[in-house]
Amino acid sequence: MSQTPQPAHGQGEEGFATRAIHSGQEPDPSTGAVIPPIYISSTYLQDEVGVMRAGYDYARAGHPTRSALETALAAVEGADSAYTFASGLAAEDALLRAVLRPGDHIVIPSDAYGGTYRLISKVFGPWGIAHTAVDTSDPQALAEAIQPGRTRIVWVETPSNPLLGITDIAQAARVAHDAGALLVVDNTFATPALQRPLALGADVVVHSTTKYIGGHSDVIGGAVAFRKDAPLSGPAARSSDTSSLADAVKFQQFAVGGGQGPVDLYLTLRGLKTLEVRMARHCENAAVIAELLTSRLGAEAVLYPGLASHPGHEAAAQQMTGFGGMVSFRAGSAAAARRIVESTRLFTLAESLGGVESLIEYPYAMTHASVVGSQLEVPEDLVRLSVGIETIDDLVADLEQALT
Ligand SMILES: Cc1ncc(COP(=O)(O)O)c(C=O)c1O
Repeated sequence: MSQTPQPAHGQGEEGFATRAIHSGQEPDPSTGAVIPPIYISSTYLQDEVGVMRAGYDYARAGHPTRSALETALAAVEGADSAYTFASGLAAEDALLRAVLRPGDHIVIPSDAYGGTYRLISKVFGPWGIAHTAVDTSDPQALAEAIQPGRTRIVWVETPSNPLLGITDIAQAARVAHDAGALLVVDNTFATPALQRPLALGADVVVHSTTKYIGGHSDVIGGAVAFRKDAPLSGPAARSSDTSSLADAVKFQQFAVGGGQGPVDLYLTLRGLKTLEVRMARHCENAAVIAELLTSRLGAEAVLYPGLASHPGHEAAAQQMTGFGGMVSFRAGSAAAARRIVESTRLFTLAESLGGVESLIEYPYAMTHASVVGSQLEVPEDLVRLSVGIETIDDLVADLEQALT
């Protein structure tokens, strides 16, 4: 397998934006190109059998464009290492396959992203993995959902998609670790610019880099990042060549081949460079939109962790440095929700989130259609906004006309 080059920039020593812009992204030594080249080659010259120039032999195992992004992601997340995949769900899949064996159990949020639930219930279920869905913001319910000796993972998504629920990460880490389980945090909504789960006690962070990290709605990708020495335990450790969780996931990336292609890696890396400034503007715009919705619909209808009325506001204020760009609200009826999402002009009716452009969607029949009828079903009158970084007055005017 290829070796990942060591990061040239120190992790944790430099500011967030400096790490996002420079970690793993030294000028190309042979040409001086300031931006690391996109390495398209599927295979690499060996000067002698087994002697490679930079540790790369075959691109499924690794290549320089992937190393650059993985180094940068680890640096911004405060992680020891990170591995990238062809989608957020491919990243989750590799992590779950590395950790779980038939008979194991996982605790998941009752407000998880629908695709995560579908993966765990419909793909891993038939392979003998049991799950319990629970309100992870309630530490007692979380502790009660754990099956001692069988639960390997406590999975948390905070803020959650699409209900914007907040889970106290440090508290969830204590509950998981007391039971010998790993705490995995889906950090897609907050991004490392606003929240660092590993510093709060989580073992693993997962991302759909399709969203804010890519940031321009032009690429699909995912990543998994690890705290130092995150262990592999239970049956997976006994049937694996390694006791390191990160190595077990890297092995999945190599052995299964779910990595991103070089152009997608480059686009993701390019997006990451501006993550901090984009997130600041997403937060600013979302706060204005949340206030507007509160004045029009009442505080109880608006789901945004930045609002003092949100039940997770205090926990969010403690563990996040901004409240993010996602705002959901209850329109009062399914018909009203559908009418609103079909009436905006600037907010585009589309799935996904986290791009510079504002999107609006109807989770019940779009992103979360797969959980209708399950414990994770979302309300029929819910509308979700991904507030972009356009001029705020234009976004306000658009929503006002759609609400009228
Ligand atoms: C919170 C969250 N996690 C994971 C995913 C899955 O990511 P992808 O669509 O890149 O597979 C999504 C996608 O919407 C998401 O919102």
